[in-house]
Amino acid sequence: MRILIADDDQISLRILEKSVTEWNYEVVLAKNGPEAWDILSRPPIPSIALLDWIMPEPDGLELCRRLQNQKSNNFIYIILLTSNDRPEEIASGLDAGAHDYITKPFNKDELKSRLAVGRRVVANENSLKQANEELRRYSLEMESLAQERAQQLVKADRMISLGTMAAGITHEINNPLTILHGNTILLKIFWQTMGEKDLGAYLESTGKNSAASLMLPNISGIIEALQTGVERLRKIVDGMRTFSHGQGGKTEQIDLRTCLSDAIQLCQPKTKHLGGMKTKVEEIPFSIKGNPVQITQVLVNLIANAADALASTPNPSLNIELYPSPGQAHFTIQDNGPGIPRENLDRLWSPSFTTKPAGKGTGLGLAICNNIITEHGGDIEVDSKLGVGTTFTVQLPNAEEYDRIMGKRKKNLKE
Ligand SMILES: Nc1ncnc2c1ncn2[C@@H]1O[C@H](COP(=O)(O)OP(=O)(O)OP(=O)(O)O)[C@@H](O)[C@H]1O
Ligand SMILES: [Mg+2]
Repeated sequence: MRILIADDDQISLRILEKSVTEWNYEVVLAKNGPEAWDILSRPPIPSIALLDWIMPEPDGLELCRRLQNQKSNNFIYIILLTSNDRPEEIASGLDAGAHDYITKPFNKDELKSRLAVGRRVVANENSLKQANEELRRYSLEMESLAQERAQQLVKADRMISLGTMAAGITHEINNPLTILHGNTILLKIFWQTMGEKDLGAYLESTGKNSAASLMLPNISGIIEALQTGVERLRKIVDGMRTFSHGQGGKTEQIDLRTCLSDAIQLCQPKTKHLGGMKTKVEEIPFSIKGNPVQITQVLVNLIANAADALASTPNPSLNIELYPSPGQAHFTIQDNGPGIPRENLDRLWSPSFTTKPAGKGTGLGLAICNNIITEHGGDIEVDSKLGVGTTFTVQLPNAEEYDRIMGKRKKNLKE
């Protein structure tokens, strides 16, 4: 432990130095007040200071006052050396900030014991400081954890409301759709067995220019179009049902390269005005599990969003990457569009948030992406700077981690 001994009496200084060095302290000496102040103000700061009361200014008492007023983070245990032990003198020394005093001529054993007390107090102060620091760090960690949890809850809450809404809509649509679907099939059968068979004879009887001869030959086509439309609606409703139940649908090994090339293909009508995009696709050295249709859906929405954002950017650039990191696969979709204003970043994942004109965007895209990726045990994040661009990053766990997450979810559901 480092100790400062300050005394303007050379003989006393040497005697003190000799004793204190014997007790295994690292000693620094000061021959007067200014030297002592210099040592006390510059690192490495001593832990104990043995200060002679009477010295050329600043004297021991003044040094105590200065240290007390300085309110530094470094604790220094101060012992005043005095030849006057009148109670009022001692009281004024302690009031000035000294922790202890010793009278001259000092007794060696007493000095040793008083220094040992100082050493214990310094050790306690240091461990208290360390504990405080740890407590502060811990409370900061807790605060950021609480913020993160709060954000997750907000996201979860939005997803619940979106899921409830989607479940309600699918239920309402599904009943009339079933009727429509059944009747379309019946209509087709009736037409094929009854109408189409007698069509020739009937048209001959009505004449070439009759309304019937203009309309009836189109009935087959009309029924086909009706059936295609109904099938499409059924697919949408099925998709919404999967989404509202929060399930990934069919789980299988996913080839992320195929998902990406499918998505790029599907987005071509939107991206062709960009004059090409850059893609960098790395090998993923482990397998990924999930629903490939849903992963493609996520990529389609992210690429379509970027293409929309780049609509009026003078030199648009869209970079897409697929790369691995230990245990995870990552997609990044990066554009140099106008960026997302700060106040919109929190609302981005809400199913009702869109800045697109009515009829162009529903605002559901990112809410669905978030739901799908969370269901896959992954994460989706956005980083955006106004006037610079936006990057969405999707992380997906490897198959092993995926199984672990799904197992844990099942267990939590049972409890
Ligand atoms: N790359 C991007 N650059 C700038 N803004 C973006 C970007 N991606 C999303 N946004 C903003 O986020 C909003 C919400 O996107 P989201 O995909 O959820 O819905 P949408 O694209 O508006 O509608 P939908 O996806 O249903 O067509 C967008 O309207 C847009 O304001
Ligand atoms: Mg979108």
